[in-house]
Amino acid sequence: MAYEKTLVLIKPDAVKRKLIGTLLKMYEEKGLEVEQIKSVFATEEQLARHYQAHIGKDFYPRLMAFMKSGMMIAIVLSGEQAIEIVRGVNGATDYLKADMGSIRGRFANGYTENCVHGSDSLESAQTEIEIWFN
Ligand code: RTP
Ligand code: MG
Repeated sequence: MAYEKTLVLIKPDAVKRKLIGTLLKMYEEKGLEVEQIKSVFATEEQLARHYQAHIGKDFYPRLMAFMKSGMMIAIVLSGEQAIEIVRGVNGATDYLKADMGSIRGRFANGYTENCVHGSDSLESAQTEIEIWFN
């Protein structure tokens, strides 16, 4: 067991659909602490750093346009195994295969517009917290 911090983004689709409270509650119900939270309009530069691993993929332009389409909520969550817990609460990348109890299973309507982001490793959590909170 390890105490971790992880970065969550509540994406523009979920903010527009007024799901902020519902989604925050799902992380809090799993015992995670909200360490930092703010609303943010992503800059091109932040997104290019955040999605560096996806540059060149076919969905990248679609993803960039979507992530700039409205306000987001950036959150640092902490707790034991926070990274894995958040990935579980978020659900599988493929919204059609995501567990129906997960955020994507319950709320996502597409491959791009899938409500949330969660860091996938200790290293990416560190990098992403730096991107969105510095
Ligand atoms: P995330 O980074 O958002 O927590 O999600 P993830 O690890 O499950 O997914 P990842 O592979 O890192 O993809 C990042 C985001 O790109 C969009 N995406 N669109 N085929 C597609 O159209 C496609 N595939 C991925 C999603 O918004 C995904 O969350
Ligand atoms: Mg990812």
